[in-house]
Amino acid sequence: MSFQTAWRSPSNIALVKYWGKTSPQLPTNPSISMTLDACRTETAVEIVPGSGKIRVWVDGVEMPSFVPKIAGFFKAIAERHPWTAHLDWSIRTHNTFPHSSGIASSASGLSALALCVVSLAKEFQERIPAKDFFREASVLARLGSGSASRSVYGGWVVWGRTPSVPGSNQEWAHPYPHAIDPVFADFRDTVLLVDVGQKAVSSTVGHGLMNNHPFAAARFEMAHRNMESLQPLLASGNVGGFLDLAEREALMLHGLMMASNPPFVLMKPATLSILEKIQSARREGLEVGFTLDAGANVHVLYPQRAEQSVHAFVNDSLSVHCKDGAFIHDRVGAGPTLITEPTPL
Ligand code: DP6
Repeated sequence: MSFQTAWRSPSNIALVKYWGKTSPQLPTNPSISMTLDACRTETAVEIVPGSGKIRVWVDGVEMPSFVPKIAGFFKAIAERHPWTAHLDWSIRTHNTFPHSSGIASSASGLSALALCVVSLAKEFQERIPAKDFFREASVLARLGSGSASRSVYGGWVVWGRTPSVPGSNQEWAHPYPHAIDPVFADFRDTVLLVDVGQKAVSSTVGHGLMNNHPFAAARFEMAHRNMESLQPLLASGNVGGFLDLAEREALMLHGLMMASNPPFVLMKPATLSILEKIQSARREGLEVGFTLDAGANVHVLYPQRAEQSVHAFVNDSLSVHCKDGAFIHDRVGAGPTLITEPTPL
């Protein structure tokens, strides 16, 4: 007897960044992200009675090297879902973006897997009321990777307790509850692939840098303040104010890394060239800004109404700094979907 399910789940990009955590994967400050659309993972899971054995296929090729990470996820969720240990798991997965692109696949990958687990839990245990489905998926995704907790919802999503967002929570993410001007509902993000290699600093090491960081208290306070400042900007459609805030957050993240012990410089010369060009284009009136992850790639942020001009700017001026000229046009998306058609995975 076997059961199966499959989910498609997107990546997300944080504007106020999660950077620093305590056990069990709880954030030291609140974060907010836009869920993306084009960058996503499709995962199909099949279970049979067994003893917790895990096999993983990526794009149809069995990948034993992926098993330890997935085993860590199952270990982390075992207390909430002990039934998972009494099954054998076949997991087939595919990313719409190249694995080596440097785009975090953990948010889309672990949210897709968490959604599969909650779907199966519902089938087996009938203990998860429909209204709690995505909350439970967010908790499980968080235990796999903090930022994955935000990918179970579409649009703008908050994770981590903060006074300016009622109901905000350390354990699960939820949709941003305040008003958002339509200009932000379909905001654009073009991901410029500057460095496509292995991450220079793992997320565990990266978050660990905030333990005993000399600027930790100021950073955590700043994140709360930025969450609060974002509210009127999003509500009123203030794109310029929003881009200023997003850039300060991104540069603060990298500033924290550079001021860590040991220090990390994750921007490349090409990253800086791109940032300079974006800032000067904005000074000249183009509605464009940036944010960064913990890496060298640049997320170019702009409203839909500036799309044509920004695409021309990316093609003519920025793509030259990308590895093999590669970039991905993405935008705010609607969140994960259950895959009902037979999957080719
Ligand atoms: C800079 O979610 O990848 O992208 O919880 O250890 O898996 P783990 O870390 P991860 O960290 C993401 C950090 C960030 C900011 C963000 O997405 O909020």
